[in-house]
Amino acid sequence: MAKKILITGGAGFVAGNIIKQSLNFTLLSSGQKEEIRITALDKYRAVYKQNNLVWLTADLLEKNNLQRILKNSNPDVIIHLAALSDIDYCEANKGIAEKINVGVTKILVDFCSDTGCRLIYFSSDSVFDGKKGLYKEEDIPEPLHFYGKTKIASENIIRETIDNYVIIRPSLIMGLPVFEEGNSFLRRMIKSLKRGEQAAFPKAEIRSPVDAITLSRSVLELSLISYRGYLHIAGNDILTRYDMAKRIAEKLNYPGSLIIDKKPKVLSGRAPRPADVSLDNSKAKGVLKTPMAGLDKGLELIIENRGNKAL
Ligand SMILES: NC(=O)c1ccc[n+]([C@@H]2O[C@H](COP(=O)([O-])OP(=O)(O)OC[C@H]3O[C@@H](n4cnc5c(N)ncnc54)[C@H](OP(=O)(O)O)[C@@H]3O)[C@@H](O)[C@H]2O)c1
Repeated sequence: MAKKILITGGAGFVAGNIIKQSLNFTLLSSGQKEEIRITALDKYRAVYKQNNLVWLTADLLEKNNLQRILKNSNPDVIIHLAALSDIDYCEANKGIAEKINVGVTKILVDFCSDTGCRLIYFSSDSVFDGKKGLYKEEDIPEPLHFYGKTKIASENIIRETIDNYVIIRPSLIMGLPVFEEGNSFLRRMIKSLKRGEQAAFPKAEIRSPVDAITLSRSVLELSLISYRGYLHIAGNDILTRYDMAKRIAEKLNYPGSLIIDKKPKVLSGRAPRPADVSLDNSKAKGVLKTPMAGLDKGLELIIENRGNKAL
């Protein structure tokens, strides 16, 4: 039987990659092609057409409408991606950040609690304070900014209310947007490099970037298997954002010298960023058949999967 998956934030960067990978998705543990039907929700009109996709335009803040959509589409799994993910915007606009990042989660959790629907929630690596690095699922989160706090608030509501959930904490996500520019640093970086312009990435921030293809396949696998709990989905390489960008630029045949150090700005209203929020992906390697990738392999997967789009 086809698996019915509802995705919030359908027009977003990660959602586009998951939707694209859902067509002809093969579960590696069985070698079987899985039939997946996607309902994507976003504020925007349909930005994408695909055989297995139904697009619904809705503002998730309209509670009654969201509840009606959930009831009518009756999904087996919800992948909850929609969020205000601009860290500084969240810091300056806490009320709306709370409504979108926590309030919407509550509505989805209530539906899952009533129906047994599985919830896959996208949290973040930035729930940690960055003092230690290589964080495991059991490590205690201490977010430095309001965005991280909203992610923890949602995690807690989910864990305390339902059983059938996965809380994914992805590292910095490297990939190309399927729809528009979206939240993709790689797209913005390639645009600058093509124009011969410098691109600034901090030497002071250490991450374990995960490519959007591996992440999307992991999420689809998690939609189909029974694992419950927290999972850190991260790449195999741990490096500064500056070294990451330099390696990407050189691999794509741009001069590495165009990548420069982005010094931390001390501006009022700018939320602090954690230094080292690299994640330990050993649990994900045990739970998932989808192989975790290093930076070079991740880039190869992104290039292979870009279809006929220019880089
Ligand atoms: N990208 C990363 O490196 C990264 C790393 C760790 C965790 N995450 C998490 O992963 C998830 C997906 O990230 P992403 O990069 O794909 O984010 P994104 O591109 O910003 O996608 C989020 C989508 O949700 C939509 N949305 C927000 N509020 C909505 C509302 N009230 N009603 C309907 N749609 C709404 C957004 O529309 P607007 O654009 O109009 O707001 C956007 O299309 C997020 O929860 C993020 O916090 C991302």
